[in-house]
Amino acid sequence: MTRRRPAAIQIDLARPTDLPTLAHLMAESPLLRRYGTTASAARRALVRGWRSGDHLLVARAAGAPPVGLAWVIGSRILTGAAYLRLLLVAEGRRRGGLGARLLAAAEAVSRKTANHLFLLVTTDNAGARRFYERRGYRHVGDHAAFARPGLDEALYQKSLRPYGRRRPV
Ligand SMILES: CC(C)(COP(=O)(O)OP(=O)(O)OC[C@H]1O[C@@H](n2cnc3c(N)ncnc32)[C@H](O)[C@@H]1OP(=O)(O)O)[C@@H](O)C(=O)NCCC(=O)NCCS
Repeated sequence: MTRRRPAAIQIDLARPTDLPTLAHLMAESPLLRRYGTTASAARRALVRGWRSGDHLLVARAAGAPPVGLAWVIGSRILTGAAYLRLLLVAEGRRRGGLGARLLAAAEAVSRKTANHLFLLVTTDNAGARRFYERRGYRHVGDHAAFARPGLDEALYQKSLRPYGRRRPV
């Protein structure tokens, strides 16, 4: 019997037809459920992001639905900061390097226009905090009950360009 190799996963930009799958991925996440995320609210948020020109990077096998998302919002605030709104990999696909690849793609797309990448992580999300810290993110402070009552956020930042090569804002 020949064993099929798992299809290679690529990182590319989401298409409008991916938004319902991404909304379900978000609604199934225990992390996002703590923030009251439902599939319909996630879908509305994704459509708003899509229309606003946010970068929605997805991980998928060719022709297959996405199994991961990195959602980046551009801005000119804080001396040129992009914001990683969400990094999410489907539960059955974790610990295989997809999160790291999506984060690297989010940094690459941000570096084109921004000098820094900022993100928030729930303070008790120890695994994700370690994940970001190992990849050069600096914990710059906490926001108690910032997005949702009872949930505290840790703010992280990574500079994407050295001082001499910063983009004007
Ligand atoms: C964080 C997340 C995106 C990582 O995706 P992934 O595909 O598992 O990431 P990788 O396989 O590239 O790397 C796994 C790394 O994360 C660490 N990690 C991530 N979540 C972890 C957890 N819950 N517990 C322990 N370790 C965790 C692993 O130890 C490993 O660390 P290392 O490579 O630095 O040794 C994924 O766990 C996820 O979707 N979590 C839920 C959403 C979330 O917390 N997002 C971040 C806040 S927006």
